[in-house]
Amino acid sequence: TSFDYAAHLKSAIRTVPDWPQPGVMFRDITPLLQTPRTFRLLIDVFVHRYMDADVDLIAGLDARGFIIGSVLAYELNLGFVPIRKKGKLPFTTVAEEYELEYGNATVEMHTDACRAGDRVVLVDDLVATGGTMMAGYKLLQKLGAEVVEAAAIIELPELKGGELIRTAGLPLYTVCSFD
Ligand code: PRP
Ligand code: ADE
Repeated sequence: TSFDYAAHLKSAIRTVPDWPQPGVMFRDITPLLQTPRTFRLLIDVFVHRYMDADVDLIAGLDARGFIIGSVLAYELNLGFVPIRKKGKLPFTTVAEEYELEYGNATVEMHTDACRAGDRVVLVDDLVATGGTMMAGYKLLQKLGAEVVEAAAIIELPELKGGELIRTAGLPLYTVCSFD
């Protein structure tokens, strides 16, 4: 039988119960990242997905989206744009507020981070409620970018973020799910 890379990557993700607060099952990707074989496999899966796609730019969400997004951009010979938590970017920004599984936040992007018509893949590690990914999507749309796809390692179907994103018309690719 063929190699089940998704199951292999999923098995490298650690679950920490009740973190950062009671009731949250935290899906921790650090074991996947620190093991050379799984980190490489993860990046290879994303590179394979987009290597022949018509994409101009990779945008990554603060902070775990930076880890995957920047390496993916480098491998695809594309530029990388960070979408950051409020107050971190020095130039003029567009901003979007959103809600998290635990709390709320604002993300920002530089107004010159992309140009109207740019074809962008938006990257993060995990989709829970989908609020973070949707906020990034809205920022890119404000600047006239065309978001080709959103990509993450993990989807939590129970929280219906994937449903929210796909219903909004943004294709979403995820490697694995945790129920
Ligand atoms: C986590 C995760 C996603 C987001 C997913 O980031 O990395 O960005 O939550 O949740 P959502 O789908 O409900 O929006 P967090 O805001 O905890 O920040 P961090 O990456 O800085 O740890
Ligand atoms: N971000 C939001 N929910 C999360 C979870 N359950 N595990 C890891 N990151 C998250």
